[in-house]
Amino acid sequence: MEAVAQQIAERVRDAPMVRIVTHIDTDGITGGAIASEALDRAGIAHEVAFVKKLDEPVITELKRRGTPLVWFIDLGAGMMHALHGLDAVITDHHVPTEREVPKVLRSDLMRFAESQDRILMLNPHLEGAGSDVASGAGCAYAVARALASTNRDLAAVAIVGAVGDVQDQEFRRLSGYNRTILQDGIDAGVLRAQIDLRLFGRETRPAYKMLQYASDPWIPRLSGNEDACIAFLLELGIDLKVEEHWRSWSDLDDGEKRRVVTALVAHMLERGCGVKETERLAGETYTLIREPAGSPTRDAKEFGTLVNACGRYDQPEVGYRVCRGDRDEFLGQALRLLRGHREYLVESMDAIAEAGINTMDAIQYFHAADRIRDTVVGIAASLALNREGAAKDLPIIAFATADDGIKVSARTTRDLVARGLDLAAVMQEASKAVGGFGGGHHAAAGATIPPGTEQKFLEIANRIVREQIGPSPS
Ligand code: C5P
Ligand code: ZN
Repeated sequence: MEAVAQQIAERVRDAPMVRIVTHIDTDGITGGAIASEALDRAGIAHEVAFVKKLDEPVITELKRRGTPLVWFIDLGAGMMHALHGLDAVITDHHVPTEREVPKVLRSDLMRFAESQDRILMLNPHLEGAGSDVASGAGCAYAVARALASTNRDLAAVAIVGAVGDVQDQEFRRLSGYNRTILQDGIDAGVLRAQIDLRLFGRETRPAYKMLQYASDPWIPRLSGNEDACIAFLLELGIDLKVEEHWRSWSDLDDGEKRRVVTALVAHMLERGCGVKETERLAGETYTLIREPAGSPTRDAKEFGTLVNACGRYDQPEVGYRVCRGDRDEFLGQALRLLRGHREYLVESMDAIAEAGINTMDAIQYFHAADRIRDTVVGIAASLALNREGAAKDLPIIAFATADDGIKVSARTTRDLVARGLDLAAVMQEASKAVGGFGGGHHAAAGATIPPGTEQKFLEIANRIVREQIGPSPS
């Protein structure tokens, strides 16, 4: 990582002006904040622009503007073929355009994309690593670190980017270059890593609410059941409230936490959960120790969600300001956006209930039309799948209207992935067959398809899923 980061840092240092172009999700917003902070500290003139995706019109506009140097973050790798003529540096972790990564290069460390000497790319795929060893923010951090070793404090926001991209999810801890970033943050006194309960809301949710909303893992009898969660904690002798304050998980002392975790493990095992599933209760968690207790900016996962809410409702700038350190006006706005997002999700669940979830033999699906925005329909699909009573043995496919066609989001459980389901392949193949495009990950993938092709898309997706997982084991 370091050698290419150094080359990019030199390129950036020599530029009279840098235009940062970054993605509107958490990883992109945090990456943009890191890059901009590092350039400010180095006295390098720059601007920041957020884009939903990097496509031909965006690239044409960048070429027309003729900025001396463009810095792409969390995007760019997939559009290498369209960038000729631009002076650009790329810090991205997505799969690069195939023909830009000849087999010989794959075995090398991250390095020049030699065929394009006006474009420098830092990308873990160029060293044969996967997308999860570093995020776009982490790659941007490598450049910030190369610009000045005093930029190690920016590691905190880089870890928010990594967690926002769920890079800690599969193994319940960060890996690869992310661990170098983490160590930098620990050394700089801005981060702490700790094995703890992995559930969402450690800082801001009342402890019983944190249990109630548990979805990874899903806790039988407790997930989705407020009364049962309250009773569970009371039986363990945990005080839920101190005066008027609902105690969050982070308010509990070590002895109390140990009691709860031990009881949760026993609870899950007794109710037939597998060891693997039960293990998902605990994992490495990341705390931004300079942030105040009880603030969503203190826990990396909560911080990531806060920033994400800004991007999803077309206000990436708000999340960006919070990442740059604003704890005043913009934090207030971000919190309002997050509250709005939660309300929007509740309404989305109603919209799904009204639209109805239909089933085919290997998939289930709903069409939200314009009732759920394209940037939220993926989360709505996850929530629908995680609800008590939902059919978890079929992947869920959701449609919503978007500017450029019909947005498709697909989600499934780890169980079905273990049985061979790969939704990225499903989305890619089925969308291509109807004149769209798509991809993603095994358990979460998406696509955009032309309006009117939904039925054909569903039939193809249903067939591919059936081929992938075969007949049910039961
Ligand atoms: O949008 P959604 O949250 O459903 O996307 C899930 C995953 O699918 C993301 O990782 C995204 O990058 C990927 N995706 C894709 N092509 C699309 C839409 C989504 O690769 N057209
Ligand atoms: Zn990313």
